[in-house]
Amino acid sequence: MKVLVIGSGAREHAIAHALMRGGSVSEVTVAPGNPGMELDGIRITQLNPSNHAALVEFVKNNDYDWVFVGPEVPLIEGIVDDFAAAGIKAFGPNKAAAQIEGSKDFAKQLMERHDIPTAKYRTFDELDRSVAYVREHGAPIVIKADGLAAGKGVTVAMDEDAAIAALEDIFVDHRFGNAGAKVVIEDFLEGQEFSLMSFVNGTDFWPMPISQDHKRAYDGDKGPNTGGMGAYSPVPQISQSVVDTAIETIVRPTVEAMADEGTPFTGILYAGLIATAEGPKVIEFNARFGDPETEVVLPKLTSDLGAGINAILNGETPEFTWDDENATLGVVLAAEGYPVNVVKGAAIPEIPVDANSHVYYAGVSNGAHGLVASSGRVLLVEASASDIKTAQDKVYEIIDQLDTTGMFYRHDIGAKALNA
Ligand code: AMP
Ligand code: GLY
Repeated sequence: MKVLVIGSGAREHAIAHALMRGGSVSEVTVAPGNPGMELDGIRITQLNPSNHAALVEFVKNNDYDWVFVGPEVPLIEGIVDDFAAAGIKAFGPNKAAAQIEGSKDFAKQLMERHDIPTAKYRTFDELDRSVAYVREHGAPIVIKADGLAAGKGVTVAMDEDAAIAALEDIFVDHRFGNAGAKVVIEDFLEGQEFSLMSFVNGTDFWPMPISQDHKRAYDGDKGPNTGGMGAYSPVPQISQSVVDTAIETIVRPTVEAMADEGTPFTGILYAGLIATAEGPKVIEFNARFGDPETEVVLPKLTSDLGAGINAILNGETPEFTWDDENATLGVVLAAEGYPVNVVKGAAIPEIPVDANSHVYYAGVSNGAHGLVASSGRVLLVEASASDIKTAQDKVYEIIDQLDTTGMFYRHDIGAKALNA
């Protein structure tokens, strides 16, 4: 089979790499991809994920069997609907189902109607009433822009002033544009976070091993929120019974609710969860693979990814099997200044990897003397080993010896598992 993957990050590199590894897919092209992917024999093509007409044309002219849509923006813009209208199979939710990520209010209302555990919330569309609610409720409290804000629309406010400043940012300074037309204000939840992703075919689902992201930029969970600075899997401090509860009280009812309400979800459903004293609760849903979680979860897939997705796209039952023996851990190398003022242009050194480690490239482009950093998250180094500590040692052994001038990384990815 020939497959087109849409997107350009380390997540899409990991998806393309897993497809190539499986056996049933012989050719993978990523649009627009990045030149780091070519080191793994993945093709790239300069097409913009928002230009649906050009992508449809490209798929038809080049006989791709199907398309895998990586990022949320084209999904929320209805790319799967546009492919379907042209008779092309694409794996990912249609526009209606992608609202589970595109609108926090949509997701919250769905959870409320179906008793899916999540933080209590209220939605507001103007400043005065939202400020009054914060005053009445008190802190800590969480302020979320309704729409997409690339992971930067959430403020966890430890006092009322910080909450009100966040609301003013949204309603007075219009920091998130249209994405901030509405605001969800929710109760602060306490506990360890984990990510539970599943393959979904509209009515049924196949959960993956869980993983944990590190959203803050600097060591010790300090600094601004980012797209994610590293991840690992499994997450031993989250018990199997918590995972089972999350599957039965969150993933299953969500998949069923989407189908029952006429917006069946096909694709990857990402549940961002927090293990509270009252059990697992939803922080957010995403309509796609998580980044960097994918780069540590897909290396554990022991079945053929392309065959599994092809089965779902053809209405057949897929098979997904996982390596539950080994641990994986990945650390992001980011450009200096990320996520605020990214300094581009750092030279990417050659990175020595072996059969149990891999580099997934993200923000890189071709410079005069090799790859250079071209956006915030530059690449991720992943390693697999018999336990988290060994995988962690292995990744840092690789990264610590590199010349990372112009870039930075966290030194404590996996620490929460090791200190638990
Ligand atoms: P999100 O973009 O929704 O994933 O939120 C970003 C981060 O904010 C999450 O990873 C959590 O660390 C934190 N967060 C979001 N919602 C809550 C909540 N209700 N209680 C505590 N922390 C939260
Ligand atoms: N790692 C969080 C996300 O992909 O949204």
